[in-house]
Amino acid sequence: MQIISTIQELVYARTQWSGPIGFVPTMGYLHEGHLALYRQARTENKTLVGSIFVNPIQFAPHEDLNRYPRNLAHDLSTLESLGVDVVFTPSVAEMYPSGFTTYVVPEGPLATQAEGATRPNHFRGVATVVLKLFQLVRPDTVYFGQKDAQQTAVITRMIQDFNLPIALHALPTIREDDGLAMSSRNSYLTVSQRHAATVLYQALQTGRLAIEADPHSHPEEIVQTMKNVLARESEIRLDYIEIRDANTFLTLETLQPPALLLIAAWIGKTRLIDNFVLQANGTWNTGQFTEHAASHM
Ligand code: PAJ
Repeated sequence: MQIISTIQELVYARTQWSGPIGFVPTMGYLHEGHLALYRQARTENKTLVGSIFVNPIQFAPHEDLNRYPRNLAHDLSTLESLGVDVVFTPSVAEMYPSGFTTYVVPEGPLATQAEGATRPNHFRGVATVVLKLFQLVRPDTVYFGQKDAQQTAVITRMIQDFNLPIALHALPTIREDDGLAMSSRNSYLTVSQRHAATVLYQALQTGRLAIEADPHSHPEEIVQTMKNVLARESEIRLDYIEIRDANTFLTLETLQPPALLLIAAWIGKTRLIDNFVLQANGTWNTGQFTEHAASHM
């Protein structure tokens, strides 16, 4: 496995690659959710490229950039064992040299509602770094997780808007045995917070069952039912529970698929997000339980 930390080296390496190129961008501290993306990408590409870069411009000043978990040595050995060909691990100065001026700013509900409302410049930071990475790696196929449904939708839209010759494969959310969606940020949780965190999944399940019981119920009723589940856990502070169109992120007046049940909540200083998708064909995508031992927990 080749480990590359400068743009100059990456641009040269790119001239040597052959066959379909798959790319999985991450911020590292890899868990089974990330690894599922790499495993799938490995089966579909000749050259598999990953990146590990904690992107400062997608964090607000009050957010967790400085304490974001890192373990580069462990991540690299994990990627090596999965058969990844190249890992790009740039420094912040490499990606944002002094004088850096140009940003990709997604607009409209897709970027300003839900996560975009709580984290105003977040998708600007994500879209900017992802476009830079796409330009450097020039992949045929990229792999993103349903866990970050809005991010995946923003990148899907950016690919369309900028006519990028890239296919995006969105893969299901990988969950712990008790339903908690895997996240690098789960490592922040104390034992009791970790226990409380399963209520996000329970609220989503309750929402799904309520919709299955009465598909004609008003989205607001479902949201209220889900909020009641979350309220049972005193350690949890709600940010939002919403039901939105999965493509546009507009709120829904009626439960029309494709729809997303979205949750964001605080547990102490840790902010977690999760979602279920009611897909266009009427089936649910609620994620998958991991078959592999967790790598960090
Ligand atoms: P990061 O949080 O490291 O996530 C990298 C990729 O892994 C994203 O596509 C995310 O949706 C996916 N992922 C995370 N948890 C998952 C889970 N439990 N199941 C399935 N997929 C999961 O998302 C980012 O990094 C950054 O914003 C990035 C796109 C790299 C830009 O900086």
